[in-house]
Amino acid sequence: MHAAIIMDGNGRWAAARGLPRLAGHRAGADAVRRIVEAAAEFGIGTLTLYAFSSDNWKRPAGEVAGLMQLFGAYLVAEAAKCVEHGISVEIIGRRDRLGGELCAAIDAIEGATARGDGLRLRIAVDYSARDCILRAAALSGAGAEISHEHFSRLLGHAMHCRQAPDVDLLVRTGGERRLSDFLLWESAYAELVFVERMWPDFTREDLEAALREFAGRERRFGGLPEPRNKVLVPANAV
Ligand code: IPE
Ligand code: IPE
Ligand code: MG
Repeated sequence: MHAAIIMDGNGRWAAARGLPRLAGHRAGADAVRRIVEAAAEFGIGTLTLYAFSSDNWKRPAGEVAGLMQLFGAYLVAEAAKCVEHGISVEIIGRRDRLGGELCAAIDAIEGATARGDGLRLRIAVDYSARDCILRAAALSGAGAEISHEHFSRLLGHAMHCRQAPDVDLLVRTGGERRLSDFLLWESAYAELVFVERMWPDFTREDLEAALREFAGRERRFGGLPEPRNKVLVPANAV
């Protein structure tokens, strides 16, 4: 199963406490640790987290610099634990606008965790779904006949990662109900779950609740009803 999360609401979480936005991003990084652990425990195969969109460069330089510093620190701090738990980590998105130190941290964690056969964790940084689609289209060659499968592989190349399955469950925290240029191609039949809670407050119980909501949905893919989605969490977990 592929779950994807738009981790939104760090700034509002901080503002509600009279704290600077970066304090919200720091609390958001703690939530990432918590949720990655829970996702591995629940047996989610692939988890894609939206950490920084290509449009987030529009934010003030101080906030952007703080976020980049947080990403690097997170990758350095978590590498050993990911190896230990068999979590493979991939960063998807553009690399050419990221700093040298962050790129080095990305290469290091991707290299160290490449053989992990547990949770596949993908973190989207400088990511734009529309940009990825344009790049994949350019790779396909003008006028070429192309299948969905082949295009999905090209999308992987365009994002510097292996091909991933389509998104099954897409969660957005922070109360907004939009996709903000995240995984547009891959979410064609994703089940959408919008959660009011701000990302720093998102807990493993909230993830469980989203998985239960998903399990109760009937997916049809344009055809006739399929059997109910398999529940990933143990029946006695909540
Ligand atoms: C999500 O939280 C994190 C990033 C986009 C980097 P926001 O920073 O968007 O928080 P809000 O939406 O302003 O509350
Ligand atoms: C989407 O959140 C990007 C991430 C969560 C990383 P934004 O806060 O940037 O989205 P908008 O601006 O509200 O659409
Ligand atoms: Mg936001």
